[in-house]
Amino acid sequence: MSVPTLHMSLRGTHLLDTPIFNKGTAFTDDERTAFGLHGLLPLQIESLGEQSSRAYEAYRRKTDDLERHIYLRALQDTNEILFYRLLNDHIEEMMPVVYTPVVALGCQQFSRIYRRPRGLFVSYPLRASIPSLLRNRPHQDVDVIVLTDGERILGIGDQGAGGMGIPIGKLSLYSLIGGIHPARTLPVVLDVGTNNEDRLKAPEYLGWRHERITGDAYYEFVDLFVQAVKHELPQTCLQWEDFANPHARPLLDRYRDQLLTFNDDIQGTAAVVFGALTGAIKVSGRSWKDQQIVFFGAGAAAIGVADYLRMALVDSGLSVEEARSRFWIVNRGGILHADRTDLAPEQRVYAQPVERFATWPRTSSGSIGLDTVIRNVDATILIGLSTLGGAFTESIVREMAHKVDRPIIFPLSNPTDRCEAIPEDLMRWTDGRAIIATGSPFAPVDFAGRKFSIAQCNNVYIFPAVGLGLIASRARRVTDRMMMAAGRALGENSPALSDSTAALLPSLKDLRTIARHIAFAVGAEAQHVGVAQPTSPEELRHLIAATQWTPEYPHLVEAKP
Ligand code: NAI
Repeated sequence: MSVPTLHMSLRGTHLLDTPIFNKGTAFTDDERTAFGLHGLLPLQIESLGEQSSRAYEAYRRKTDDLERHIYLRALQDTNEILFYRLLNDHIEEMMPVVYTPVVALGCQQFSRIYRRPRGLFVSYPLRASIPSLLRNRPHQDVDVIVLTDGERILGIGDQGAGGMGIPIGKLSLYSLIGGIHPARTLPVVLDVGTNNEDRLKAPEYLGWRHERITGDAYYEFVDLFVQAVKHELPQTCLQWEDFANPHARPLLDRYRDQLLTFNDDIQGTAAVVFGALTGAIKVSGRSWKDQQIVFFGAGAAAIGVADYLRMALVDSGLSVEEARSRFWIVNRGGILHADRTDLAPEQRVYAQPVERFATWPRTSSGSIGLDTVIRNVDATILIGLSTLGGAFTESIVREMAHKVDRPIIFPLSNPTDRCEAIPEDLMRWTDGRAIIATGSPFAPVDFAGRKFSIAQCNNVYIFPAVGLGLIASRARRVTDRMMMAAGRALGENSPALSDSTAALLPSLKDLRTIARHIAFAVGAEAQHVGVAQPTSPEELRHLIAATQWTPEYPHLVEAKP
């Protein structure tokens, strides 16, 4: 591959202090002469690979996860290309350190470990000047913004301005896997205050010391930012991240038809689970229209997933009503049914007429629980998004497996102690017939002398690839059909289709390649629904390959004054 050339106007320490251009010890002799770097660097000239090996040794000497996270963030703020090369060389080891779960520690400790500025802090007291804040962004051309208000960070809740760790970590994965050039990404935190007492009391807290803004004032503030993006960066993808449930869906619904935008917690989750199920259904040998689907949990994640599965059932030939009748969703109050008065509109879609279970036994409080549903329905798919660890008991799983040859069981709640069942038990209780994916990572399971890998439904399979597809196809909107196309492409690349002991989802080291397939599906669907300019399939593939950036140093030449 030929080395790209970059015209550079920075010199000396300014060049060394600019992480996106700095090559450190890899500046060549010619470059050191041209940019006044002789003497500012040790004599030895290293290749990017040699630098990566040396950086890895330093990384290995760190003694805990937070130290490893700080080390990688510091490298990102010193030499960005080396940071990505190192990540690429050790993707399986380092992804959990730059992103979940370790990034949660990074957010909690944000104000203590803060070193250099990155991204944009859009703080409520500066609301009168949001367009000019946006114009202060470090790089003019932006392909992807990841935006959070820090209210629902992973499993650790409200982190205020410390939530900035999430957009930074997430955009690292857009660049690493999707190949979105790091200089074309922008992490943003909307600092609307925090209700986290620990943060408010901490002397080192760097965010706005104020309780959260709510109601109309909150929505008006968010709107000021979105309008500024629409005006200043009309082609940029705006991805919503870790907003609290009461805000997440209203914001998505309000803006999805106004600009290129999606919510990864809602749509990315739904797409990855849909993708894993697409693979699982193929492995099971049944078709979509033969499924009976039981959910345990009816929260934001569960309803988002159910909506995509419902569309897939309709695509398979079922009527809208028939598709709806295939869902048996259970939450704290038991099965969702038409007589319940506590359901949100998006849950009510799945409420079954009570006549369907008139003869089923009820608990003392009058509800119908998961065990009863499994006893009375020939469930083919059981999905847990409930946060209730151990909810898929031995008797429930054995009952399901008694009635179906290849039960598809996805205990997706996080973290590990909330998982509805652990894969080892599921394999034992189903004599190795269960087709499994989890929300948390699990080691391979030994069963009957064979080792079975377990897929983790991680959104990282989807969002970087979706970003690549949006940018390469120059899409103007993100539709649910585009997200489903991403999931379907992921499922079609399931390793379990050709190897019965392999995981349902690909290994992380194959993600950059898989991302191109997913991006193609996203771009093709965008063209199909008219939100992107049509091209030939070859042209779209070419655009995707050309957009997917690989971490390598360009050859720097002096810019003409
Ligand atoms: P949520 O709080 O909106 O929903 C939880 C649901 O579970 C509610 O419907 C609640 O009624 C139900 N529930 C809780 N305890 C119950 C009990 N004892 N009996 C019956 N139902 C009960 O939470 P959200 O955002 O929907 O997330 C749920 C879980 O899914 C979390 O553990 C989260 O970590 C996990 N998750 C996993 C993802 C993945 O694997 N990629 C993606 C998104 C979420």
